[in-house]
Amino acid sequence: MNEEVPTAGVPGDAVTRRYPFTEIRKRLREHKGDVLDFALGAWTLSPPDTVVELLHAAPQTAVRRAGPRDFGAFANGAVAMLRHEYGVEVAPECVLPAPGARAAMSALVTCCVSASDRVLVTEPGYPALAYLAARRGAEVAAVPLDPHRSFEPAFDAVSSAWLRSAMMVGLNYPNNPSGAQIPEHGFADLRERLAPAATLFNDATYAPLVYDTSPRSMLPCEPSVPADQNVVELHSFQKLFALGPLGIAFLVGSESLINAVRDYGDFAWTPLSVLHLEVATRCARLTAQIRQSRELLAARIALLRSTLEAVGFEPYPTPAGMYVLCRVPASIGGTEVTGAQHAAELLLDRYDLGVVGWDVPPNRYLRFSAMFRPEDVETLAELGERLELGAPA
Ligand SMILES: Cc1ncc(COP(=O)(O)O)c(C=O)c1O
Repeated sequence: MNEEVPTAGVPGDAVTRRYPFTEIRKRLREHKGDVLDFALGAWTLSPPDTVVELLHAAPQTAVRRAGPRDFGAFANGAVAMLRHEYGVEVAPECVLPAPGARAAMSALVTCCVSASDRVLVTEPGYPALAYLAARRGAEVAAVPLDPHRSFEPAFDAVSSAWLRSAMMVGLNYPNNPSGAQIPEHGFADLRERLAPAATLFNDATYAPLVYDTSPRSMLPCEPSVPADQNVVELHSFQKLFALGPLGIAFLVGSESLINAVRDYGDFAWTPLSVLHLEVATRCARLTAQIRQSRELLAARIALLRSTLEAVGFEPYPTPAGMYVLCRVPASIGGTEVTGAQHAAELLLDRYDLGVVGWDVPPNRYLRFSAMFRPEDVETLAELGERLELGAPA
């Protein structure tokens, strides 16, 4: 076991690389001919009726700065939603809305991480936190999620001394891309292994989209998040409803930490509008529609999984999220595959099939989005044996 740095997956290129999804969008745009877009998905959810009504009834609220009453109403709505969806009890002071999930993560990292601090992330995972920490000059290391253990983080790849010296651990459960959920005591077990001053962060963007267990939060079931716990979770309505740039995200965590990010936000981002806050407050109340979005995504995931299996891909289970993760075939159309990126290139070049390739040596994955257009999944089914997929090694 390595005493200094975790053995696996250190994202050494974290600072220099571009946002991978910008690159993928560009690659799909440049492709000649129509793309079966399972990379990012060309289909969209609908905005809730109540939000559309608001846009018509009170467009002037878009240019009015939100005040304490708007923030208070939203925080109360978020508290009720967290109670209803996850059974956790937090105080309104522990809730901070931000212009989006990435803006929230950026502010959080700035407040919690200094140059040379150790930050641990997991791979495969949404790449923003690793990048933002690396930009702060942190020593970022990545622990692999183990596909043989339901994508639990392989923390045994890290010495307990290293784990204890980490200033922040950034999780992303339910995970993008694997759709995995953390085991029931996963958050609490990890918190115990960290130094008291370390921040335990979970990007819970996909938390409502859980299909075979109850949605889970790492927040404690206490009236307010204890100040010494240093836990913070990121929530969003963005994966439930089409909200575009109106879809704010929110951090929930220890009050001192939340206040630090709030103070930083005054310097770092333009104040939210009355409309932003009202949209979010209305979304927090949409219990039935949240369930409907979950059911809709569950049906799309089931259709995507059966289609992928029928054409010869090998999906991992999808207990949550909006993506189906597959093993990389050993060969495609008779060509031996060297990695996930190579497989994604072959599928696009030869079959107009857009997917996201994820290389996390020694594992490699292809991610298919459930936000596909109906005609694309039909065309995927028709590709059938033409793909000539070799069984993954
Ligand atoms: C896990 C995860 N977190 C955060 C984000 C980004 O959210 P936002 O667009 O609100 O910044 C995404 C986007 O897909 C995501 O998958």
